[in-house]
Amino acid sequence: MRSHKLFLLLVSIFFPFTFAAYQLVQDYSGDAFWQGFDFFTDTDPTDGLVQFKSLEEANSTGLAGFIEGGNSSFAIYMGVDTEEVAPQGRASIRVSSTQSFQHALVIADIVHMPGGVCGTWPAFWMLGTDWPSNGEIDIVEGVNDQATNSMTLHTGEGAVVSNGTDFLGELVTSNCDVNAPEQPMNAGCSIGDISNLTFGNEFNAAGGGVFATEWTSDFIKIWFFARGSFPDDIVSSTPAPSESWGTPNSIFQGPFNIDDHFKNLQIVFDTTFCGQWAGAVWNTSTCATLAPTCEDYVANNPRDFAEAYWAINILQVFQDDAEQESANTTTPTEPSTGGPPRTRPGPPRRLRSRSGSRVLPIFL
Ligand SMILES: *[C@@H]1O[C@H](CO)[C@@H](O)[C@H](O)[C@H]1NC(C)=O
Ligand SMILES: *[C@@H]1O[C@H](CO)[C@@H](O)[C@H](O)[C@H]1NC(C)=O
Ligand SMILES: *[C@@H]1O[C@H](CO)[C@@H](O)[C@H](O)[C@H]1NC(C)=O
Ligand SMILES: *[C@@H]1O[C@H](CO)[C@@H](O)[C@H](O)[C@H]1NC(C)=O
Ligand SMILES: *[C@@H]1O[C@H](CO)[C@@H](O)[C@H](O)[C@H]1NC(C)=O
Ligand SMILES: *[C@@H]1O[C@H](CO)[C@@H](O)[C@H](O)[C@H]1NC(C)=O
Repeated sequence: MRSHKLFLLLVSIFFPFTFAAYQLVQDYSGDAFWQGFDFFTDTDPTDGLVQFKSLEEANSTGLAGFIEGGNSSFAIYMGVDTEEVAPQGRASIRVSSTQSFQHALVIADIVHMPGGVCGTWPAFWMLGTDWPSNGEIDIVEGVNDQATNSMTLHTGEGAVVSNGTDFLGELVTSNCDVNAPEQPMNAGCSIGDISNLTFGNEFNAAGGGVFATEWTSDFIKIWFFARGSFPDDIVSSTPAPSESWGTPNSIFQGPFNIDDHFKNLQIVFDTTFCGQWAGAVWNTSTCATLAPTCEDYVANNPRDFAEAYWAINILQVFQDDAEQESANTTTPTEPSTGGPPRTRPGPPRRLRSRSGSRVLPIFL
């Protein structure tokens, strides 16, 4: 009996340390999103026909704010201009988290995305400094009338991922090196999803879903869960990917060291137009029937971009106990939001919309 009790005591002491448990380290849901993200206003590095606006300008013109996200919650809204003919570039938004992360479990409940609209190139991604040597993880990305999500890594030389049957998507290119000679320039290693629910019109029609990205020293995995089929541990903000999440949509893993290629990544959301991808493949998409070039179309048809917006219910970053010990999570300006985890974003503090707009303003 005595040794049995001793055994239980030892188990209860060591159990919490033998299994990694994810803890919420940053909750960007609701108002916290605008406190934790910076607006990028430089020229688009991917040559898009776009003008990225500042927080103040985006807020005052209704490009950024909150919209009703269903179930009386409010979603973070990031849209594009739908009024002006814009040969110098359509107004849009690109934001980066001020905080960067070293290893993370990033959970995003997205209600609506800009995908599936001819001329657009939206992305939800993670980016290191000194591209591509510190890496890039593209969690959600696509162009024009693309129907399924592309999940892609971009790195320097030496990262080639293995093909496998243990993920739902299909490996399109395996070399993450942006200069891989056997692949198109900057293709990276890319896994294409097979479900239309993961991107664009069908994603939006189904009310979106959760993208969950787990980045450890051993792998980068991405899961997608359609609305109505979220694992309970995601709903309760106590995520345990290895327990009940099932087969991921992508697994990036191979005979290379993940930590050599991915360091201190910031979270980014943006919507650009045309440029190095959407513009380059315009003629090979069904969009080509709309205008001779992507730029013509984007400049001259503002009202066609009404669906080109992000609506984000929840954005949370978790790290496991062990990672937090040796964390290299940097917080240049913003403290952690702290407080108990929230499963639903709170409403914005003041609800009066601008006259004639369904987008509610931002109060910091
Ligand atoms: C956003 O716009 C509202 C007016 O609609 C203004 O009161 C508020 O201060 C603005 N917020 C920011 C961060 O500029
Ligand atoms: C609204 O709530 C229902 C029931 O809890 C849930 O199934 C549905 O996914 C929710 N919708 C959104 C947009 O959160
Ligand atoms: C997915 O979208 C593509 C292109 O729009 C379409 O051809 C295909 O039928 C769709 N698949 C399903 C299962 O709806
Ligand atoms: C990976 O394997 C699948 C299934 O065998 C195949 O369709 C796909 O082309 C392969 N990808 C690469 C990059 O070899
Ligand atoms: C697409 O086709 C148009 C003519 O229809 C041409 O002017 C344009 O240069 C082509 N674009 C590309 C990227 O090939
Ligand atoms: C942490 O990040 C800083 C800044 O990027 C870097 O100089 C340092 O080497 C990193 N430390 C570890 C332990 O990775």
